[in-house]
Amino acid sequence: MSASDTKKAVAAVLVRRADPEQDMQHVDEIHRIVNAAYRSDAGWTHETHLIKEERITKEGVKDVLHDKVNLLLLAFDSETNQLLGTIQLDPAEFYPDFGEYEKDGHATSYLETMPKENQIFLGLISVDPLQQSRGIGGKLVREGLRYAKETMGRKQAVVYVLFQRTELAEWYKRIGFVDYGEKVPYPDQARTKQEDVHFTVLRMAL
Ligand SMILES: CC(C)(COP(=O)(O)OP(=O)(O)OC[C@H]1O[C@@H](n2cnc3c(N)ncnc32)[C@H](O)[C@@H]1OP(=O)(O)O)[C@@H](O)C(=O)NCCC(=O)NCCS
Repeated sequence: MSASDTKKAVAAVLVRRADPEQDMQHVDEIHRIVNAAYRSDAGWTHETHLIKEERITKEGVKDVLHDKVNLLLLAFDSETNQLLGTIQLDPAEFYPDFGEYEKDGHATSYLETMPKENQIFLGLISVDPLQQSRGIGGKLVREGLRYAKETMGRKQAVVYVLFQRTELAEWYKRIGFVDYGEKVPYPDQARTKQEDVHFTVLRMAL
């Protein structure tokens, strides 16, 4: 795809908050896209070699659509109305505690000590593997950050990246996220396919 085609494709992407009624028709497609992105090897970065089972069930998708705390945004092609991807915005004060933070000796940063009520966790970030590398993921994240800042009043974004996925961490860093050396345990070791699966924490001021 040429640079001008990519620009056109990104311009046509509409990111909006999911609607629990209107978007029930998309449950199967959300389920397909999230699992194809995370748990198949069809895209350029995934976790199928690290984590077993589906990323989300169809029941889980319905729950996410009705969740009033953790907000789901959906990306569509505004010309065809095709669903392209997902992102969830989880207020940090309600985010589950996966265990103690470990540090690699960095000084405690202003971002790490910010009150949870000011932080937003990004999750369920997926782009249909057939549509990846066209700028859609970048637009989803930027729109998610804008929504978190302007509509939810958040001052900092946090994302957990499986530490083996260095290509993904580099992608977030190009968007503006910073690694301060924090680590968090993976919450469900029974689902991991390798020993020592844990998260790297990335943070970004909004
Ligand atoms: C991560 C993800 C959302 C990115 O979506 P996307 O639409 O491909 O993102 P973009 O097109 O905006 O960006 C693709 C980038 O990857 C780069 N890229 C493409 N193929 C690559 C490869 N094989 N290795 C490294 N980088 C690659 C592109 O050059 C581009 O870089 P840029 O942003 O600096 O221009 C998507 O790959 C995905 O759904 N992954 C599986 C789910 C997941 O891991 N989510 C995050 C969990 S924390």
